[in-house]
Amino acid sequence: MTEQPLKHRSIRDFAAAPSAAQQAALETTAQETASSNYLQQFTLIKVTDTTKKQAVAELTHCPFVAGPGLLYVFVLDTHRNLRQVPDADAHNLTGWAALLAGAADCQLAAQALVSEAETQGLGTCYLGSILNDSRQMISLLKLPRHTFPLLGVMVGVPEGLSQPKPRLPHAVVVGDNQYPTWDAAALQDYDNTTRDYYRNRPVNARDSGFVDMLLAYTKTDLHQRDEIGQILKVQGFELPQ
Ligand SMILES: Cc1cc2nc3c(=O)[nH]c(=O)nc-3n(C[C@H](O)[C@H](O)[C@H](O)COP(=O)(O)O)c2cc1C
Repeated sequence: MTEQPLKHRSIRDFAAAPSAAQQAALETTAQETASSNYLQQFTLIKVTDTTKKQAVAELTHCPFVAGPGLLYVFVLDTHRNLRQVPDADAHNLTGWAALLAGAADCQLAAQALVSEAETQGLGTCYLGSILNDSRQMISLLKLPRHTFPLLGVMVGVPEGLSQPKPRLPHAVVVGDNQYPTWDAAALQDYDNTTRDYYRNRPVNARDSGFVDMLLAYTKTDLHQRDEIGQILKVQGFELPQ
């Protein structure tokens, strides 16, 4: 393990899962994160079963998920709270407020876990691609109504360190009192910077800039995400349009 905390970069090659003590620290940190209205609308599932990990590796198209790292799935969860107040008006625990707050709870808890892992010298990779097949995820993890598998995170001892990816220029992203103004040159420079990064990285090098990447993303088949509204309805969420 590295002695210095990792500077953030996603890791997709793991030598081992975190130790039991590390897992306990990560999970406690996730739970200690701020929570909208203190509702704590998330559940964290550790997936160690090799068959289930293999299934997630396939549906996410991320083969490293089947390897030695530990897979956490952050589940948006209003089921637990609903069970505690079975006779109450369910609207605030099944509607948009619950969905958005539960999503925030999951994402903040996940980022807290990622930060703690990186501080410990562990590597992490988010897996938004569990949304490729939400129905299969719900079935694999035996999720009850009023839950939804929002985000995966792989954590483990990094086998190899990837290079940090360059971020957009500060002036393009941060505005003073209003939406920032920027010119095309700032983004052209950034496109050149990302092209250098992609051309020169030791693994999976390619001739691509940020705009090429954006164009490729617009062509990615994400049709499964269009079914999420229906799946949320089946899961018991009521989301008026
Ligand atoms: C919400 C979210 C979902 C992500 N999903 C995936 C994923 O499914 N598979 C993957 O390999 N990386 C995934 N990533 C990692 C991003 O690809 C990565 O953060 C981005 O390319 C920037 O690289 P860096 O994290 O190394 O700085 C995800 C990141 C976020 C924040």
